[in-house]
Amino acid sequence: MKKIIYKATAVSPANIAFIKFWGKKDPEINIPFNDSISMNLSRCLTTTTVEFNSSYLLDRIVVGGKEVSEAKKERVVKILDQVRKRSNLKLKAKVISKNNFPEGAGIASSASAFSALALAASSTGKLSLSLKELSILSRHGSGSACRSVVDGFAQWQVGDSDTTSYAVQIAAPDFWELRDIVCVVSKEEKKVSSTEGHGLATSSPYFKTRLKILPEKISKLKEAFFRKDFRTFGQIVEEEAVDLHMMAMTSSPPIFYWNEGTMEIIQAVQTWRENGLLVYFTMDAGPNVHLICLKKNVAQVSKEIKKSKNVLFTIINKPCEGSCLSKEHLF
Ligand code: PMV
Repeated sequence: MKKIIYKATAVSPANIAFIKFWGKKDPEINIPFNDSISMNLSRCLTTTTVEFNSSYLLDRIVVGGKEVSEAKKERVVKILDQVRKRSNLKLKAKVISKNNFPEGAGIASSASAFSALALAASSTGKLSLSLKELSILSRHGSGSACRSVVDGFAQWQVGDSDTTSYAVQIAAPDFWELRDIVCVVSKEEKKVSSTEGHGLATSSPYFKTRLKILPEKISKLKEAFFRKDFRTFGQIVEEEAVDLHMMAMTSSPPIFYWNEGTMEIIQAVQTWRENGLLVYFTMDAGPNVHLICLKKNVAQVSKEIKKSKNVLFTIINKPCEGSCLSKEHLF
């Protein structure tokens, strides 16, 4: 019998949220409580090849050279199943994926992973998704992944249903010469996943207050962004990062993502600013610190980071394109 093979490869960036997604209104399909805003990260990329093949008997998922756990496999198969259903495909798949940055350490590997998976899987057969549909499919894998499909800077509009909750571009990658220097202070997989964190969000006594103040915070952040007012923008980004971790630390049970290295950098940033170096911090659900600065200050910030005891290495990112297809298959 003739072998049937459908294959595609996609490359997708992680993204850093300036306004964070924390808590899910509908955990089944990852509908958030609030809008979030992000920038794609040029040096934090996932490459994924998906092949549907009539000779495969099972779905196989390999990330970074290792078969993934059953729980992770389930999330991937959920996306494959949606593609199979929509394109009327009955074949099993092999998925090979690799990151060029450490996984599970707060550098949003799930965002790059699920956006790359959604594009690769949906490009293998006859399915042709619009950007909106691709954002929605990516969101089903991991909420923040829906922001990685658009180029540059994205806003995930909360929406109120599956078809209305997706990300749109707010500015192209070259709109503003922002840089994100990720200070990696731990390469270990975090103990509490963001999925668990989202589940605990509503248990924080500050949850309702956060939802109340967010609309104004978002409009102030966007105003500063479009005016390229870096000081105001940076201040809001920092406040938001602290709010996210305050929510995590006050949930029941509490979650502490920070470590000694996180605190060292947070405190250093304040000193650097007092000395006239304009740089602000943010974090995701993990200990690593993202330093946001303008391109012209990257060399100085990098020099300061070298004095730190706890930074293992840095990754310097600029805003970049979203998910795209590649001809270089991983197998
Ligand atoms: O997409 P998830 O489920 O990994 O959640 C991401 C949560 C944060 O990184 C903390 C915030 C965000 O908006 O990216």
